[in-house]
Amino acid sequence: MSKEPLLTSAQIFERVKELGKEISSRYDFDIIVSILTGAFIFTSDLCRAMPRQNMGIYFIKASSYGNGMESTRELKISGLDKVPIKGSRILLVDDIVDSGRTLCELVQKFKDLGAQEVKSCAFLDKADRREVKFDTDFTGFKIPNAFVVGYGLDYADEYRTFPDIWTLFEQ
Ligand code: IMP
Ligand code: MG
Repeated sequence: MSKEPLLTSAQIFERVKELGKEISSRYDFDIIVSILTGAFIFTSDLCRAMPRQNMGIYFIKASSYGNGMESTRELKISGLDKVPIKGSRILLVDDIVDSGRTLCELVQKFKDLGAQEVKSCAFLDKADRREVKFDTDFTGFKIPNAFVVGYGLDYADEYRTFPDIWTLFEQ
């Protein structure tokens, strides 16, 4: 683990406040769909940083990582049946975009299921690790190739509740 945090909770707080305003001013969405488990802390801060306060918030579960760091490539999605997708303008929220497979696949899935519009937001972006062509519409911070933990992000279910973002190891 790094000696200093990569991002402190103060930096995170400032950026999430800004991002909430930015998204609200650029995208008039109906519902937030947040991806468990990693995005739960980011989502709760982000939705409270948005000036408009009545919006539907739904959680789905997407996992492709098992307990390790390398994607198993097959995305398991659950909870979609609870989300009013058809005709909705959706803001999809995730903790981090790495290979890009999760968000790319989910955006397509929501479109296939009849969403009116889908835009994505990731708290962190490791752009150099992309394996598919995908860009988020909104990003908190771009970070270098490293496995990071804290602020909802885990490694084998550890470190999730750390308020800062820490580098576990370089990638
Ligand atoms: P992608 O499909 O490769 O873009 O992977 C995205 C998912 O992998 C994220 O939602 C995270 O759950 C997980 N992930 C990728 N990089 C990290 C990291 O550095 N720390 C913790 N989880 C990560
Ligand atoms: Mg995740």
